[in-house]
Amino acid sequence: MSLRTLPGAGEGRGGPALADLYAPIAAELADAERIFQEELASRFPFVQHLVDHCADFHGKRLRPALVLLSGRACGPVTPSHSVLAAVVEMIHTATLVHDDILDEALVRRHAATVNAEWGNETAVLLGDYLFTHAFHLAASLDSTRACRWIGHATNRVCEGEMQQVHHRGNLDLDEPAYFAIIEGKTAELTAVSCRLGAAYAGAPEPTVAALDRYGRDLGIAFQIADDVLDLWGEERVTGKSLGTDLEKQKLTLPLIYLLRLVEPEAAVEIRRLLAEGRADRRRQLRPYLERTGAIDRAWQRAKHHVKQALGALEGLPDSDAKSVLRILAQFVVRRSS
Ligand code: IPE
Ligand code: IPE
Ligand code: MG
Ligand code: MG
Repeated sequence: MSLRTLPGAGEGRGGPALADLYAPIAAELADAERIFQEELASRFPFVQHLVDHCADFHGKRLRPALVLLSGRACGPVTPSHSVLAAVVEMIHTATLVHDDILDEALVRRHAATVNAEWGNETAVLLGDYLFTHAFHLAASLDSTRACRWIGHATNRVCEGEMQQVHHRGNLDLDEPAYFAIIEGKTAELTAVSCRLGAAYAGAPEPTVAALDRYGRDLGIAFQIADDVLDLWGEERVTGKSLGTDLEKQKLTLPLIYLLRLVEPEAAVEIRRLLAEGRADRRRQLRPYLERTGAIDRAWQRAKHHVKQALGALEGLPDSDAKSVLRILAQFVVRRSS
């Protein structure tokens, strides 16, 4: 069976629940998707084929939705919002295309990864094409503000990924170092998405800062949930390769908790499992994760960040968009894909 037609393809790509949540911004989200495709179009059929692949196998569109909902929660949503929504999705897609090379992942969004289907060279270059085009597009807006903010956030994403590579195999990674990694690689982009949405709706600085905090805590909770799914989720549902954190010896929060919670003899055994690289590590870790409650502990931590994200929204006037932002924050710790 081709990887392009894995079971589950078509499920979990947004799904009805997310489509319902996005209803207040559906028109602007459709504009952003159109901009994404039109902007990236190439006269070369091979490049166009790669762009079509990214557009056809799209994900949850979380970051564009955050731009648009944050805008709607703070004031009028303008055509600039749809452009910014397309820009953050280009950056996000670029990070995924590159991340799948680093993780040697085979499946993404229920389809073959770019590296699996066309090789690492193509994937490096497609990621670059997406990154550079994101800045080209952001520069079409009336000020340099978006470029500066997105440039800074993308820098922090790369810093986070570099720190993660640097800590590969470090089984003593502690919580502060883990949080520094995920705040960079994931939370910066969700934070800047919200910040841009608010700022381009003309919100005052304290409101822009509150939306930034919301997006940051949501991003942290999102990545903790993702790290749990890597150990505990089902590939058929997530539509992406799982277990790559273990394969690449990335110590994530559930594992940090596990090593702290088990008795010393079991910790020796777990360290051996993590270091040895056997194929059935995921299955072998399961009973330890269950017995110690390490997964629950990680969920609790994710929920703590959801609560902080909700707190950041408190000063906003009530609106449909604010209600959806609240539900989205709760969704990130319930998601299975
Ligand atoms: C995946 O992000 C990368 C992480 C930050 C965990 P998403 O889960 O938002 O990916 P798509 O866009 O829906 O595929
Ligand atoms: C998120 O980390 C990667 C980026 C922020 C680009 P992961 O490596 O956990 O993401 P997935 O699980 O492959 O989507
Ligand atoms: Mg990955
Ligand atoms: Mg992951």
